[in-house]
Amino acid sequence: MTPADRIFVALDTTDAAEAARLAGALAGAVGGVKLGKEFFTANGPIGVGRVTASGLPLFLDLKFHDIPNTVAGAIRSSLALKPMIVNVHASGGPAMMRAAADAVAEAGAEGGADRPILLAVTVLTSMGPDDLAAVGMGDDPEAQVVRLARLAQQSGCDGVVCSPREIAAVRDACGTGFKLVVPGIRPEWAAKGDQKRVTTPKQAIDAGADYLVIGRPITQADDPLDAARRIAAEMA
Ligand code: C5P
Repeated sequence: MTPADRIFVALDTTDAAEAARLAGALAGAVGGVKLGKEFFTANGPIGVGRVTASGLPLFLDLKFHDIPNTVAGAIRSSLALKPMIVNVHASGGPAMMRAAADAVAEAGAEGGADRPILLAVTVLTSMGPDDLAAVGMGDDPEAQVVRLARLAQQSGCDGVVCSPREIAAVRDACGTGFKLVVPGIRPEWAAKGDQKRVTTPKQAIDAGADYLVIGRPITQADDPLDAARRIAAEMA
């Protein structure tokens, strides 16, 4: 895998034409695109198809969280888009994650789309100790992240989304094969925006991340292609 292959560019927009244009411009310089709830709710599967026409692999970031039967159905529906990565909330519990894992396994078994990588979201990084305590999940975010990462692994997930600060603890708990996908990445030369606890692309890779989710440092750059290339060069 090249450094560029490890970059998923977050296209956080409702504008499908703009997202498709950016994806086309970045093809070859990044490993894939991440489309989430904002884009999907506005543009649906047809909008996703406009972006993946660039040929870039898709991280469909819809973070499903519901009863197991519903989540399995949502995962099966998403397979039509041939995502490389899909995700669910680990706090949906072991039965829900297992149902999602069984649904992605069907994709491989049917010989159609390749089996996507199934990730679990542990604790949203927007939640601090007080927020965790308020919803009855203890008050130690890192302990909760590790607990949910272990549970995700036992329940058939291939990896987790985690913050740069949690890479080492999750790597320790879940071993080398477990995929760690990390947002909150800022090269030294990029604005931090609303991200507070950031790390550079190189630091995240050195700490053990498999894939980096990077949005504004690329999408808001004067020259997004040049920004993506600089980031890949720094990672090498
Ligand atoms: O523009 P920026 O690089 O901050 O975008 C990061 C992407 O990763 C966004 O799509 C954001 O929603 C997502 N994300 C995040 N922090 C998390 C989880 C996801 O920034 N903890």
